[in-house]
Amino acid sequence: MQLLLMGPPGAGKGTQAVKLVEKYKIPQISTGDMFRAAVKEGTELGKKAKACMDAGTLVPDEVTVGIVRERLAKDDCKGGFILDGFPRTVEQAKALEKILDELNLKLTKVLNIRVPAEFLIERAVGRRICKGCGATYHVKFNAPKVEDTCDNCGGKLYQRADDTEETMKKRLSVYEESTRPLIEYYEKVGLYTEVDGRQPIEKVTEELENVLNSVEG
Ligand code: AP5
Ligand code: MG
Ligand code: ZN
Repeated sequence: MQLLLMGPPGAGKGTQAVKLVEKYKIPQISTGDMFRAAVKEGTELGKKAKACMDAGTLVPDEVTVGIVRERLAKDDCKGGFILDGFPRTVEQAKALEKILDELNLKLTKVLNIRVPAEFLIERAVGRRICKGCGATYHVKFNAPKVEDTCDNCGGKLYQRADDTEETMKKRLSVYEESTRPLIEYYEKVGLYTEVDGRQPIEKVTEELENVLNSVEG
């Protein structure tokens, strides 16, 4: 399955992608995670991405498309993949079409986790991530058993630099302007489905799996 997981910042794309990875044994490709890894390693890509991420704006399309092209050409994507957070502009969606054509692949489904803006700041500001294994928590909605400590590996939890109220406001306005138009774009090609992302995490997973079961079956 070649899946695209869309949704505004803090909607739960990463949280749900992890569940789908487990179930379908296909890799998650998160451009945000790739940029954060590059920032940590201090690579040229990381330097280019950091300023945009800190400001809550988009990394330029040519940079983003380049890393996705490389990633999708890897062997582990031959059996399918889940794109998380890419594409985010109509330009990126058109570039993705070309990349998939070159690889002789087609998108199976576009899944949008729809969450109204008033939920999203709280989700982002309360998010905590494990330094050790990358697991995502939320101080209120998905709290670890021991405060600031990962249930899986005992690692310390940290906050993403862009998970402040101020940066989230910018990220949300960028979403409205640049990313929301993709809903119409994918509706037109008949691949689009949305689930109600206001529900608890497990319920959202169930609905996504139901959609995918109907595709498979
Ligand atoms: P990226 O890392 O993709 O950030 P984002 O799109 O803003 O999305 P998030 O990762 O913040 O949210 P999510 O939907 O994954 O939610 P999560 O599951 O963690 O991008 C970061 C930056 O990189 C961008 O701003 C940009 O600069 C750059 N970038 C990335 N891709 C790019 C691209 N294609 N083009 C250009 N630039 C790009 O959940 C959030 C919180 O809510 C967690 O705490 C979680 O526990 C909780 N939660 C999840 N689901 C629920 C639920 N159902 N109920 C209650 N709480 C929930
Ligand atoms: Mg994410
Ligand atoms: Zn951990």
